[in-house]
Amino acid sequence: MCGIVGCMLNDNRKAAPVLLDCAKKLEYRGYDSVGLATYDERIHVKKDEGYIETVDEALNLADMPGNYGIAHVRWASVGKPSKLNSHPHLDEKETVAVVHNGTITNYSELKDKLISEGHKFISQTDTEVISHLIEKFMDEGSDLEHALRRCIELLDGSYAIVAISAKEPNKIVATRKDSPLVLGQKDGSYYLASDIPAMIKYTNRIMELNKKEIVVITKEKLEIHDEHDNIMFRTPIEIDWTPEMVEKNGYEHYMLKEIHDQPESVRRTLLQIDEIKEILDDIGEIEKICIVACGTSYHAALSGKYIIESEARIPTNVVLASEFAHSLNIMDEKTLLIGMSQSGETADTLKALNSIEGPTKLAIVNVEISEMTKIADYTILTKAGPELSVAATKTYTAQVTVMYMIAALLGNNEELLDKLNKVPEYIEDILENSEIIKSMAKTYLYANELFYIGKGFSYPTALEAALKMKEISYIHAEAYASGELKHGPLALIDNNMPVITIIPPGKDHNLTLNSLEEVKARNSRIVTVCSEDDDLVQDKSEECILINPDVDEILAPLVYIVALQLLAYYITIEKKHNPDRPRNLAKTVTV
Ligand code: AGP
Repeated sequence: MCGIVGCMLNDNRKAAPVLLDCAKKLEYRGYDSVGLATYDERIHVKKDEGYIETVDEALNLADMPGNYGIAHVRWASVGKPSKLNSHPHLDEKETVAVVHNGTITNYSELKDKLISEGHKFISQTDTEVISHLIEKFMDEGSDLEHALRRCIELLDGSYAIVAISAKEPNKIVATRKDSPLVLGQKDGSYYLASDIPAMIKYTNRIMELNKKEIVVITKEKLEIHDEHDNIMFRTPIEIDWTPEMVEKNGYEHYMLKEIHDQPESVRRTLLQIDEIKEILDDIGEIEKICIVACGTSYHAALSGKYIIESEARIPTNVVLASEFAHSLNIMDEKTLLIGMSQSGETADTLKALNSIEGPTKLAIVNVEISEMTKIADYTILTKAGPELSVAATKTYTAQVTVMYMIAALLGNNEELLDKLNKVPEYIEDILENSEIIKSMAKTYLYANELFYIGKGFSYPTALEAALKMKEISYIHAEAYASGELKHGPLALIDNNMPVITIIPPGKDHNLTLNSLEEVKARNSRIVTVCSEDDDLVQDKSEECILINPDVDEILAPLVYIVALQLLAYYITIEKKHNPDRPRNLAKTVTV
């Protein structure tokens, strides 16, 4: 789940500042170490454990010679964060430098064999076998690309690899299998990166690299070779993301910026209606739906279940991708199997989609060039724009928006489609009144745990709000369907347990209110997210976040969550944690 970068610049620019700039945009993939290698008469390397800005302050990473090179940001998987374990990894003669994302599962046996042949290892990583194998094969007479080809024939596991060699200057080679890597080009310069946001400042002309293809970049050209060494022709796709979309634009964190992007990202996603209709028409009759996803995407899928079953009356099963293999997945050609993922690269979701034949497969993804789009028969793009904060916010609301559009189209519900167009304004109201949420954060700064409750449409919102809170603030947060409290969790309620209740107007309002009364009777501190004109709930609450009364329980999943994203964000800020870099997490989970 690391980030890798490469560039070959064909103008007067030095590579290091460009590599550093690109690596900064990949920090959401890993931030425990950073390193660069460039070539100018020899391979130059700077690397260390720590955040990019800290390492940069100490080592001045941009100050390296050469106009091509590679870079890496690490999320430690094999070997703890340390300077020696940081990428790039070299062979002992320092003729080869390699950056790698993924996990080589058979690295121990390869390492033992290389050691028995006289190779000396200095790190605990799996990656170091790659630099030694390339060195070995080049010593045996292979050129850099064929050394890389021979190397990957020995590797089990997942990888995206970019390498340079002092024996073949002015050349970058790269390959991938089960870890992402995209290529970009502009004005004779070439770029490689784990994800498009890294290079969008330099080019929006992006090419995909298929599994086990090898790309060879020289000053003159970029060539893609398939497994049989045939040269593959690839036309760049022009991505409609802009450099501004990957900047913080004055916000302190990407997360806050991305929360504020939501009126616009929901609007953009709503414009996809014709494409979605065309896809659903083409798929034809759907008797049941199964959605596989992880984390926040799973919660969006769960919201989808409530909306689709209510509005289109189609049975919808939602399965955690990591549990998919353990459920009885009876599907035929009238089943629509949906993979929901912002990245389109999540290993568990890809595995689940790949594990089954028969149903029509639909990918709902935010990244146009991603593995999931290749597996699926159809793709719906959420138009959230690039999301760089580890905590998903705007991709969540974009996914839920797509769920609404599918439900409305399958249920022929024009009225719902009309109502959706008002959602961006309702979100704007919340963002304009966020000072109240900011001040509430001071009260809950010292909470050790929090409960979130919601019923029906609001239950997935409670789950997502609790996930947001725990992943960035590190406060233990649990979410329950409000009706479940009395079946056990109520035993935990006392005056030390604030309960955040999501209670929009609608048919579930009164039953949720009953649950609220139950917790209030146990002296819990009551925080509610409710309608502006819901005096009854406001009277029973210590704190309220008020939402436009026109947002009923059907629309609530798209609107109420924004208030709770802000609450998680502001509590995190009060606690002096960085919401963009939660501990132990990375945005794209490719292992
Ligand atoms: C969201 O805040 C989390 N970072 C995480 O749960 C994420 O949603 C999950 O890993 C799935 O990712 P995907 O949408 O890229 O498949």
